Amino acid sequence: MKIARFSRIGFILAAAGSAVGLGNIWKFPYITGENGGGAFVLIYLCTITFIGLSLFIAEVLLGKAARNDVVSSFETLAPKNGHLWKYAGFMIFTGVLILSFYTIVIGWILKYIVVSFTALPTSIKDAGDAFGTMVSTETLTQFIFFTIAFFITIFIVKKGIKKGIEKVNLILMPLLIFILLGLFLYSTTLAGFSQAISFLFVPDWSKVTDTTVLKAVGHAFFTLSLGMGTIMTYAASLPNHTNILKASISVAVIDTAIALIAGVVIFSFLFNAGAQPAAGPGLVFISLPPVFASFGVLGNVFSVTFFVALAFAGITSAVSIVEPTVLYMTSRFNVSRTKALFILGSVAYICGSMALLSNIKEFASYVTFGGKGFFNILDFASSSIMLPLGGIIIAIFVGFVMPKERVYKLLKDYMNDTVFNIWYFLIKFITPIAVLMVMINKIFF
Ligand code: TRP
Repeated sequence: MKIARFSRIGFILAAAGSAVGLGNIWKFPYITGENGGGAFVLIYLCTITFIGLSLFIAEVLLGKAARNDVVSSFETLAPKNGHLWKYAGFMIFTGVLILSFYTIVIGWILKYIVVSFTALPTSIKDAGDAFGTMVSTETLTQFIFFTIAFFITIFIVKKGIKKGIEKVNLILMPLLIFILLGLFLYSTTLAGFSQAISFLFVPDWSKVTDTTVLKAVGHAFFTLSLGMGTIMTYAASLPNHTNILKASISVAVIDTAIALIAGVVIFSFLFNAGAQPAAGPGLVFISLPPVFASFGVLGNVFSVTFFVALAFAGITSAVSIVEPTVLYMTSRFNVSRTKALFILGSVAYICGSMALLSNIKEFASYVTFGGKGFFNILDFASSSIMLPLGGIIIAIFVGFVMPKERVYKLLKDYMNDTVFNIWYFLIKFITPIAVLMVMINKIFF
């Protein structure tokens, strides 16, 4: 099957669209808040540079070398035992799990866009109550917005790489950057700005605990969309002469810059209102609306703008979570995209519905297993087990299974020997060991 090619900028925007998501704007600020700020940010930056980037390059290399779906890529690139290595492609199924709860969160964001047109909560307590009530009691509302988020995602993927994914990213990515830069410029005028800068960039090493490092490593993988073949799948559509190193660095830089800008905006707004940085996963939903409310009507405009940007970021990522499985199903089983999406979508929608119900008081007991709600099970199984496992497999495959000369040939046009050797060492030894540590930590502690 012939796989359509991105334009050069199309690939970078789509990969950046995948990487920049809820992980950057929603998750990065709140885990930074919980882990004490500057020191965490510094560790996160080092992890992106030395581990995340190496794995990103590895995924691009595999995708471009095989130009196939993830399962077939492992099968054909393995010098021997391809029939066994194809099972490494199991990682694409992580996508179904991530999609189920990711679209629920996008649904919350869509609801907040609507709420932004009405009177916003004026205190952190009211905002917390509103968020808690929505998640634990508003079944129908959540279903409506979850379903909308779900179908927008499916619709874009159905249109394919060129007409769907590339086109949407071409519009939404620049728009997202524009909105965030606007908010950033505004935040520089606030009194909370300098406090935000020192919170984010002046390390306070006393705040670093043993799990801080491991949290930073884990987030580096999630934020760069690594470990389930998303980047491999997009790289299967990489134009021939794209510089792999430059493209990978560009995406990592865009992703990191957006996380940092989002961090500065959110903390400037927070500190300006005298709110606390460690508000947990509800940070964006609970802490920002009261800050927006204090600006009057202008605050409503900020609020709509902010949540629209967040929804864009989420949708372009959700699309990239679906594409690996769709490419696998269409190319291995010769089914149409519509049929593939119908099958995959049905499974994800059922999982998502169960996850949604697991947060609702009266249904929770039916979808709680071993003391954990289904929503948390999906999140845990994907981010803490499947993604890191996928990352280790990719690193081992490139570092130990593929012949070094083959890997060298694929990269030699884009980096000199010193850079290649550093990268090869990072992918062969540092990456698998670091990821194994993250997994062990997340599973047992
Ligand atoms: N990187 C995205 C974020 O930060 C999430 C995401 C998209 C993802 N595709 C992925 C995470 C593939 C892991 C694997 O929100």
